[in-house]
Amino acid sequence: MFISFEGIDGCGKTTQLKLLNDYLNELGYKVIAVREPGGTPLSEKIREILLNKNNNISNIAELLLFEAARAELIHNIIKPACNEGVFVLTDRFIDSTLAYQGYGRGLDTNYINILNTIATEMLIPDITFYLQLPLSIVKQRYSIKKLDRIEQLGEVFLQKVIDGFDIIASNNTERIIIIDATQSIEKVFQNIKNKLKI
Ligand code: TMP
Repeated sequence: MFISFEGIDGCGKTTQLKLLNDYLNELGYKVIAVREPGGTPLSEKIREILLNKNNNISNIAELLLFEAARAELIHNIIKPACNEGVFVLTDRFIDSTLAYQGYGRGLDTNYINILNTIATEMLIPDITFYLQLPLSIVKQRYSIKKLDRIEQLGEVFLQKVIDGFDIIASNNTERIIIIDATQSIEKVFQNIKNKLKI
């Protein structure tokens, strides 16, 4: 099974992914956990470029770098693992590109869908957990950590990204499950387990 975790920075998806990874391991499943951008040596290098505040990257180049990192990860790690029946958990995937580069940066979502299709070799998650969080709580959580190049883009950008995730979720109800991320870590994880029925 292929599961992605999505949401705005600070929504808690990385924590939840780790909890699910440990839980599935305890149950005896083979699990691989990856993050985007990243997950292969080349994709991790691309991640460094993308998140480094000193880099001034044009919107299209940014989009293509995210897609390049994704193509590497899909081809080398995710697709082979799925073919072997391993559980694959990914911290962000195609919806992040639509939300950040599409709704956030304002790039054409039709083009992004095409690039996503190419980069993923048409492999899409069986389930996506979208950890939904309003901007007011995002702002509280941001104040306690150092911001990277994307996170420092400001409130207007972040609100567009959140709105984007909401639209994407309502357009993909068969795949995307919305989780209320304002709750405690334990409650969020309980919700995720309930939805998975494992
Ligand atoms: P992370 O902080 O969740 O690891 O994600 C890295 C940053 O990259 C985050 O601010 C969201 C951003 N991002 C995009 O803008 N587009 C994408 O396609 C992906 C995967 C991440």
